[in-house]
Amino acid sequence: MGAYEIDEWALVKTSLDPEGIGSEESLFTVASGGLGLRGDHEEGDPSFHRGTYLNGFFEQETINYGEIAYGYAENHQTMLNVPDAKLFRLELDGHPFSLKLARIDRYERRLDFRSGELVRMVTFTLASGAVAELETRRLASFARPLVASFRWSLRLTEGCAEVSVFTGIDGGPRNLTAADDPRVGAKFSERPLIPTRLEVAEDGGLVEARTRRSGLAMACAARIRAWRTGVARTEGERGTTMKLGDSFFCVRRASLSAGEELVLEKAVAYRWGLAGDEGRDLAVEAVAAADSASEAGYSALTAEQRRELDSFWRDADLFVDGSAEIRQALRFNLFHVFQAAGRDGRTSLCAKGLTGEGYQGHYFWDTEIYACPIFTYTRPDLARSLLAYRHSILDAARERARVMSQRGALFPWRTIDGRETSAYYPAGTAQYHIDADIAYAVQKYLAASGDGAFAEKEAAEIAVETARLWAGLGRYGEDGLFRIHCVTGPDEYSALVDDNAYTNLMARNNLRWAACLVDSLPQAARESLGSAVGLRDEEIEGWRRAAGAMAVPFDPVTGIHPQDDGFMNRPDWDFAGTPREKYPLLLHFHPLVIYRHRVLKQPDLVLAEFLLSAEFSRAQKIRDFRFYEPRTTGDSSLSHCIQSVMAAEIGDHGKAYDYFLKTVRMDLDDVHGNARDGLHLAAMAGSWISAVYGFAGFRDYDGRFSFDPRLPDDWKGLSFRLAVGGGRLGVELSRDEVRYSFEVDRKETRGSLTLFHRDTEFSLAPGKHRVFSLKRQLRAVLFDLDGVITDTARLHYLAWKAEVDALGLKFDEKLNERLKGVSREASLGIILEANGLEMTASERIAIARRKNERYVASLDVLTERDVLSGVRELLAGLRVHGVSAVLTSASKNAPRILERLGLSKEFELVVDPSSIVKGKPDPELFLRGAELAGAYRLDCVGIEDAQAGIDAIRAAGMAAVGVCGEGGPELIGAHRSVKSLNELTVEHLERLLESIR
Ligand code: BG6
Ligand code: MG
Repeated sequence: MGAYEIDEWALVKTSLDPEGIGSEESLFTVASGGLGLRGDHEEGDPSFHRGTYLNGFFEQETINYGEIAYGYAENHQTMLNVPDAKLFRLELDGHPFSLKLARIDRYERRLDFRSGELVRMVTFTLASGAVAELETRRLASFARPLVASFRWSLRLTEGCAEVSVFTGIDGGPRNLTAADDPRVGAKFSERPLIPTRLEVAEDGGLVEARTRRSGLAMACAARIRAWRTGVARTEGERGTTMKLGDSFFCVRRASLSAGEELVLEKAVAYRWGLAGDEGRDLAVEAVAAADSASEAGYSALTAEQRRELDSFWRDADLFVDGSAEIRQALRFNLFHVFQAAGRDGRTSLCAKGLTGEGYQGHYFWDTEIYACPIFTYTRPDLARSLLAYRHSILDAARERARVMSQRGALFPWRTIDGRETSAYYPAGTAQYHIDADIAYAVQKYLAASGDGAFAEKEAAEIAVETARLWAGLGRYGEDGLFRIHCVTGPDEYSALVDDNAYTNLMARNNLRWAACLVDSLPQAARESLGSAVGLRDEEIEGWRRAAGAMAVPFDPVTGIHPQDDGFMNRPDWDFAGTPREKYPLLLHFHPLVIYRHRVLKQPDLVLAEFLLSAEFSRAQKIRDFRFYEPRTTGDSSLSHCIQSVMAAEIGDHGKAYDYFLKTVRMDLDDVHGNARDGLHLAAMAGSWISAVYGFAGFRDYDGRFSFDPRLPDDWKGLSFRLAVGGGRLGVELSRDEVRYSFEVDRKETRGSLTLFHRDTEFSLAPGKHRVFSLKRQLRAVLFDLDGVITDTARLHYLAWKAEVDALGLKFDEKLNERLKGVSREASLGIILEANGLEMTASERIAIARRKNERYVASLDVLTERDVLSGVRELLAGLRVHGVSAVLTSASKNAPRILERLGLSKEFELVVDPSSIVKGKPDPELFLRGAELAGAYRLDCVGIEDAQAGIDAIRAAGMAAVGVCGEGGPELIGAHRSVKSLNELTVEHLERLLESIR
């Protein structure tokens, strides 16, 4: 674990590392959704940046554009670094204590995921030879909003010392200012937080302040108690309190000798709200909360914290059997995501949580697409609260839509209070997809929780206003398709494009969902929705129509979905000529240079294929993943988890795990080199997504819950729980099987849960479980025709030869090898390419037709005797064992040939090659074959004589048998090679399946 010790329930550091202190401060943050305390040392040194943040508390500043245009975002918003309560300065025998200078004998910091505490223990030797143990503890309370509690103690184990400790509220810290990186730093021209009141008492004090421009005010109260324990226990230590500029410090002094200990406990409460809000007295609230926490004492707050975290882990823990390191990383990530989420329905989850100032404390789509799934399935109350935040800013989003000449609501790309703050609209406001992302998260939350009250009010209003936006934004083209122009998709390395596939697909989903949701509302809810948003039936019809006509770019040549309308026209990025240090590209190339190439910062279309899983065939996903993956830089930390999930889905398990490792250790390894500015919360959430959606193969498209699990090779097990159907679905995966169980609190009120394991539907009654084997079992054998069942490969060759000779082109047996398994049209393409020749479509059609006429004429000689040896016997064996036989030939003449061979009855299942998008080596033919047979793909064996066919079988995830004939070329990737089917029995195939993973 690099710089950190392996501990399953804690992040532990046992050495002081002033160099890496920045990222360490982020990693060791404790937060409670509302209040975040960076992990800076109590002594304030060494430190990169001391930070204390209140989620949602910000200052704004006018954006100074060099050139401005209508509708640009007006203000920066920056989450403020507020007065700091973490500081405890120590003096020993009159000398300030410094971690950097002290003679340290032992140092340990521990962020405990179960108690929610940051604990530090330092043993050091003083100049006098005395030995002291310093222990500091802090937590940001989940049970008490915006309350933090600290416990500080110093014990002498040898010698004696004069001890002074200063602690209070330090008004010194400021926000970091912008450097060269657009992703960090505030833009303030003047001090943003103006102190308005400072009061001290013997045991604490109060500071109040207001923001200069955003109209907010805050109060922070602290209560400090101190006592001395030891050989002769003394009563409460008295001390003095002093003001120092905008700060105050209480000083406690004691003469300690060996065995004695000075202890300080400090309770701190923050409150914030609108400045001048008559209804609230922030100071009174803060003082009351601090007093109450102080009276309860630090250990009572730890107990409350543990209760909250115990319940969180009961619902959210992901247990990986296999690696303590991974368990630690996953829990670390989950812990941070949990403590970052706003809980009051008025705040959300900042891109960096409350761990730093990167992205200025803004909320992006990260919350809805990356973090919300975790909360929806582990803490639905928090998912609801995050989505309620979006509802709370609906008016601002409506206003933004007006500015952008639209109806409905346009949610801001980045914001704190609901207003757009992105100063760079091509990668900001242009990302209209945020509307669909929010709608998607709401849809998912409703499907899992069945929260009717939320559906009728908040969800319905969000649905209507987002659907309106899309209906107004798009236009019907002359071809009748509904098109959306000039937007930016999730991939920020392309901007202002037409028909971004992700946007259109997600908008389509948004429109359909909104129409369904509104239709499903009870009469009364529908009426009150109508009066809230003025809805007409024609409008809903319009949404359905637009959804039905939505343009989705598709390229018939490659069979992939281009990311946008112009994508395929752009040249590829010069990856080979771009050295490592030029990444991330955004810091080294002008946006236009990036935009005009095929290069991705993060998955775009591939993300849509994950989110809208059931709308795409598996073959389509494989093609798209393979096309985009080499073009995706991963410059965005949001990239890796999606790549991991989709690599897992398409069966590229090595890649799935590699990407998982990147997302799960993003900040622990400081993969992007900027963890000091705050942690990558979406990537952290992404590790849960990778495990649950990736390795467990969970899909929740449109409320259909399914699993297609497959553990990484290094893991023996994975288990977790999901909140669905009013209970908790337990999923326990081992290498050989998966167990699903369903628990509810009150059985009588709950019905059964309908689930899918792979394609098998089943239901679980409360208290019941079901186990499925994950071992491969032979269900279907997919046969190629030419070269496997009969020797027509020779006839194909002769037909091509005659035709190509007539054209005066070169053609030989070697080139012919490349045509095997390949469709007629693609075969001609290969021949022309080998001859360096181009032809028009009509010329090609004519040649292919003539070749086929020659070929078909030659088929007349075929009889039942031309079935290759071993074929009939194997087919008979399959029949006896109830295993399906499917014909997966690229030849459109296959049915005719089967008839001549007398095999039509044996092959009831024949895939029609003209119904597929791409032929071999694309896996589509074989995947279709499995579907036809109703067999799970991993339970199929494919038999092929051509390399393209073997490649296709492997890409489909199936077991591949290569038929090489006498002296034929070796088929690379075949799990087993035979000369003829004579060598194969059903038992062989069964054993073959058992032997591969
Ligand atoms: C495959 C052959 O089975 O069918 C290929 O291996 C051939 O060589 C392909 O090109 C298409 O056949 P047809 O009969 O549709 O031209
Ligand atoms: Mg063949």
